[in-house]
Parts: sequence; C-alpha cells; structure tokens
Amino acid sequence: MRLQRIDHVGYAVEDLDEAVRYHERLYGAEVAHRERMERDGVDEALLAVGDSYIQLLAPTRADSPVGRFLARNGPGVHHVGYGVADVAATLEDLKALGVQVVDDHPRPGSRGCTVAFLHPRGAMGVLVELVEDPRLAGVTAGHAGTSPERRRPPGPTLGA
Ligand code: CO
Repeated sequence: MRLQRIDHVGYAVEDLDEAVRYHERLYGAEVAHRERMERDGVDEALLAVGDSYIQLLAPTRADSPVGRFLARNGPGVHHVGYGVADVAATLEDLKALGVQVVDDHPRPGSRGCTVAFLHPRGAMGVLVELVEDPRLAGVTAGHAGTSPERRRPPGPTLGA
C-alpha cells in the first residue's frame, strides 16, 4: 500500500476565523497550526483529529486556486491529502501509471511538508494531494499508528 494515512481533508471556506469558531463550537476542535502560503494564495488553519487534520483554507486573493474554487462551487470539500513516505518516488510511480498530475515535481507545502497535487481528471473527480511529513520519517505503512506521540507533529509554535 502506497498510502500511510489520510493526512488531512481540505475545506475551502470564505472566512477562516468563522470556520475555526464553527469547529470549536461544534466539536471542541483546537487549532494545531496556522500558516499563510503566499504562493498558493491561502490562509490555512489545521485542526487536529487524531493523527489527521481538518485543513481549513481561505483565499488571500480571488484569483488563487481556492479563490476560484469558491467562486465556482461555494464552500466545501476542496481536496484530500494522502500521507506517503516519499512524495517524489510516489509521484514518479503514479506518473508511470499514466496518472495526470498538477505538480510535475514535489514542492514545499505547509508545516514543512513536501507535497504534490494530482489532477482530479481521471481521479474520480477528487483533487488529491500527496503529503510527506518529515516528522513522520521512518514511520512506515506497516508501523503507522504504533505510537501516537511519535506521529503527532508538534503544536502551534511550528512554522508560524
Ligand atoms: Co492540503
């Protein structure tokens, strides 16, 4: 199995603070990480759910991918992040299988991760993000889940 875990589910939202408050009020969620990614034109808030995250994404500009998504679809599920041990190797394997990609090469994601997006076309309409978290290095698919302490990345101080 190439996938180690569901790293996160990404939601496109209009108002990040409002979306955070909503999840706090309904689920007692806590923000594990916040980051602005200028390159992608998004503000992100990560809410920890076990070893995974809900990733709330609000556009910083209308012409960003999430901004265009919101204009087209309104708020909703934007993408799913699959945790993998090695984004570069997985991406090459998938390309060799004929998978259409958004990112030809791995690139920096939030919280120090390396990521690459696959195209929803030919992927049942789902935008998929491959995520390699350096803090989970050495955690193989067969051993994932053995140690929550080891798998849980550090909290809010990270990369702020
Ligand atoms: Co993501």
